[in-house]
Amino acid sequence: MTENSNQWNSTLGFLLAMIGSAVGLGNIWRFPYIAYTNGGGTFLIPYIIAILCVGAPFVFIEYGAGYKFKAGLSKTLRTINKKYEYIAWAIQMVPFLILTYYTCIIGWNIIYLFLSFFKGWGTDTNTYFTTTLLQSSTNPIGLLHIVLPIFIAVAIAWFIIWFVSHRNLNDGIEAVCKIVIPLLFILMAGIVIYSLTLPGAFKGVSVLFTPNWSQISNINIWLAAFGQIVFSLSLGLCIMFTYASYLPEDIDLVKNGLTVAFTNSGFEVFTAIGMFSILGFMSLVSNIPIDQVVTQGAGLAFVVLPRVFNTMGLVGYVIGPIFFLCLFFAGFTSAIALVEPLNSSISEKFNLSRKKSVTIICSIGFLISILYTTTYGSALLTYFDGFLNQFGLLLTVIIECIIFGWIYGLDGLLESINKGSKHKLGRTWKFMIRYFIPIIVGIMWLQGNYTSFTSPDHIQVLIQFILLAVLFIVPIILYKIPAKVKDY
Ligand code: ALA
Repeated sequence: MTENSNQWNSTLGFLLAMIGSAVGLGNIWRFPYIAYTNGGGTFLIPYIIAILCVGAPFVFIEYGAGYKFKAGLSKTLRTINKKYEYIAWAIQMVPFLILTYYTCIIGWNIIYLFLSFFKGWGTDTNTYFTTTLLQSSTNPIGLLHIVLPIFIAVAIAWFIIWFVSHRNLNDGIEAVCKIVIPLLFILMAGIVIYSLTLPGAFKGVSVLFTPNWSQISNINIWLAAFGQIVFSLSLGLCIMFTYASYLPEDIDLVKNGLTVAFTNSGFEVFTAIGMFSILGFMSLVSNIPIDQVVTQGAGLAFVVLPRVFNTMGLVGYVIGPIFFLCLFFAGFTSAIALVEPLNSSISEKFNLSRKKSVTIICSIGFLISILYTTTYGSALLTYFDGFLNQFGLLLTVIIECIIFGWIYGLDGLLESINKGSKHKLGRTWKFMIRYFIPIIVGIMWLQGNYTSFTSPDHIQVLIQFILLAVLFIVPIILYKIPAKVKDY
């Protein structure tokens, strides 16, 4: 392939890059907790329905549109209607802003990977994480105090992302995913199998999967399942759209999309078995009920699991580094995917090489990420994460359904999707995209945003308005700057 090649070398490379973009931190640290707190085994019913009715159908919107238009989202929406280019820039700001804090978490992860070789977090893992390492403060004045180790780790994370993304598609993203994704699956399988041999593992797993049937009629469980699928499959982030735009002709898109959707979910259910086996073990040795050890997010990865590795003795020196390496691989392959939507549109509109546009995006991203390396960083990160997922992500899903389902029309996309596919999509798919997904996601969006915008936490509301302004103003600038190519 040539230096500026923008086409996958092989279907396998595309598939692994897609899986890499979907399988991320959310699969490892979010799913187990969400499943556990939302009815355990009962959760699997709404979860499977969410894959079938929201996840899998939506995947084909982005696959179909990217494959058909073979361009970035900005140019694609401009083709549909000149003014929609603005909407495209706004949509692409969401993955970019998510990337700015996602990279910070990868930075923490790099530090923990290093610490795991000698259990450098000590015995009080909570104090180490929040006080010693992050020097976490809830006072916004903390934005003026950078924490040097975090700053260095985040700089390293950005450098690695830049290093892979700025290379041409085949030598960068594709080559890396071909190695890293199989390795991630093998290492995670090792962790899960080992975890199942631990005393207390069975108890942990049965707690996770014990159904609570009285919960099945609880609407919140259903919304949690749909939310998990949106986040975990990276729906609405335009990543699948961009990756599919790099595909050559004659691809079985239906088979490919379903493989990604089910591999992503299979991975998170499998990982949850490992996580709960470990938590079951911890509950047994520390004599603390499992509901008091279970947590999610940074608390699970950087506080609870290091505590478990401490209790594992010598084995902890092996399992710890493997776990943090898995977390790094999962996070990193999602991070390089988050660069891609904006990169594709910027390089296309301003006629920049991949090298230049990735360098610009990573430099600006790094500058924003510095905010999270301050003592107020973790508080800020929580606000950004809440807003971008609750407001941004769900809205982009709805907008894409409206633009492609109602304005552009699905017949044009269906033709491209079905062309090389053995199993064809048809009326049911159209119904899901036009009615089911926008209504379900719309309910989630209204419910979540009502809560967050009426929050008694004034700082949260202020930050939300600032982000709202960013999502509104930056796309105007990108839209107004004239393109550097003629037929844009
Ligand atoms: N889907 C990615 C994750 O799960 C963003 O973290």
